Amino acid sequence: MKPVKIGLLGLGTVGGGTVNVLERNGAEISRRAGRALKVVQASARDLTKSRICSTEGIALTERSEDVVSNPDIDIVVELIGGTDKALELVLSAIANGKHVVTANKALIALHGNEIFAAAQERGVMVAFEAAVAGGIPIIKAIREGLAGNRIEWLAGIINGTGNFILTEMRDKGRDFADVLAEAQKLGYAEADPTFDVEGIDAAHKLTILGSIAFGKPLRFDKVYVEGISKITSEDIDYAEELGYRIKHLGIARRANGGVELRVHPTFIPERRLLANVDGVMNAVLVQGDAAGPTLYYGAGAGADATASAVVADLVDVVRTLAADPEARVPHLAFQPDAISEVPVLAMEDVETAYYLRMAAADRPGVLAEVAHILGERGISIEAVVQKAPEAGMDHVPLILLTHRVREGEMNEAINRIEALEGIQGAVTRIRVEHLDAN
Ligand code: NDP
Ligand code: HSE
Repeated sequence: MKPVKIGLLGLGTVGGGTVNVLERNGAEISRRAGRALKVVQASARDLTKSRICSTEGIALTERSEDVVSNPDIDIVVELIGGTDKALELVLSAIANGKHVVTANKALIALHGNEIFAAAQERGVMVAFEAAVAGGIPIIKAIREGLAGNRIEWLAGIINGTGNFILTEMRDKGRDFADVLAEAQKLGYAEADPTFDVEGIDAAHKLTILGSIAFGKPLRFDKVYVEGISKITSEDIDYAEELGYRIKHLGIARRANGGVELRVHPTFIPERRLLANVDGVMNAVLVQGDAAGPTLYYGAGAGADATASAVVADLVDVVRTLAADPEARVPHLAFQPDAISEVPVLAMEDVETAYYLRMAAADRPGVLAEVAHILGERGISIEAVVQKAPEAGMDHVPLILLTHRVREGEMNEAINRIEALEGIQGAVTRIRVEHLDAN
């Protein structure tokens, strides 16, 4: 049978990795797919740049439009990133009757509803396994492996760059900016690394996970997003002292009145497997009503790991080329006419526990005032740590762990605590999740 012809948009970290994996494992991949897969054309901005892959036998162009309109090409693989040009190219590929594989989470989170509708109308596939958690087949696991479950919640470390930064800060005391620069050099970071450190990339991924878990449309604008740029080594050390680790989590959970979709730094007990996922590794813990908790772990970024997911999508597409479009696995796990809007809770209505750190005047009564404010709102304290004053300092760090409470109540309590005369400056608040089965 003739090889399936592939057009690549982008020859950077993931594009180069994809060419390498297809080349290295070509024979096995074609035994799995039933056809050989051949990259016939690829686009990049600057064709004079050196590449991590060989481009021998691939027609190169600076005009991505030529790839999506090339009549010889069966599958277009979009690996340029961004949402403007990428959207234009993907919609154009679909309109030209080509199947699409993409690693672009921003594109799917922001424009997936439109893209999937166009693909369904044209009878082509859009596959996006590489968009979430790099090499971990998490989309396939939730969409197919857990199809018998009602997904209760999932929580994941879904940004490799952020996890790499937090790990290096904790283990080696390294500086935030220095570790970020290394992540960029290693090809882990987004073109704009604020997407990694401010949680936007994780929110793109959580948008996708939330939709395939709960059968709802993609709604990126409803996700609560907080990054890791304000995490200090002080908080990392206090977490250790209290038996926790700080991880940047994406959490999707069914709750009374809707679902929670939130990305933020989180204290998790150090005995949890997720707490021990370090470096560029990602992991997603999924709680299904039938399977119970299942955990998926692997490299969250990098050329080969991401290429693994891109190539798996290519194999899936090739295997179903001749199948009836109605028989394909739906993009968002649920049949398109069964996707329904579910309210996403405002952050004020989310219930969680908290770590609070503040600078308290070193005199009797301040802790009692703080405890009184919390008590008035029914917020019970699980642990208190008050440090001895350092020479010459009139304020000492006061650290509290609380039980679960509605975030709105906690916001009010923090405002009142910050107004106390005995408290200096702002209260640092980090949410705490125990990640037990319920
Ligand atoms: P890179 O920046 O390494 O590569 C992007 C490639 O696209 C480059 O070859 C670049 O050309 C080309 N390109 C960029 N803009 C255009 C354009 N307007 N027209 C034509 N070509 C263009 O990015 P990555 O490979 O890291 O990321 C690609 C996608 O994969 C992104 O959506 C990213 O979010 C996603 N992703 C990345 C992962 C990673 O570990 N890096 C992991 C999972 C997903 P040139 O080389 O000439 O500049
Ligand atoms: N910048 C992303 C990360 C790439 O670090 O996780 C993988 O999606």
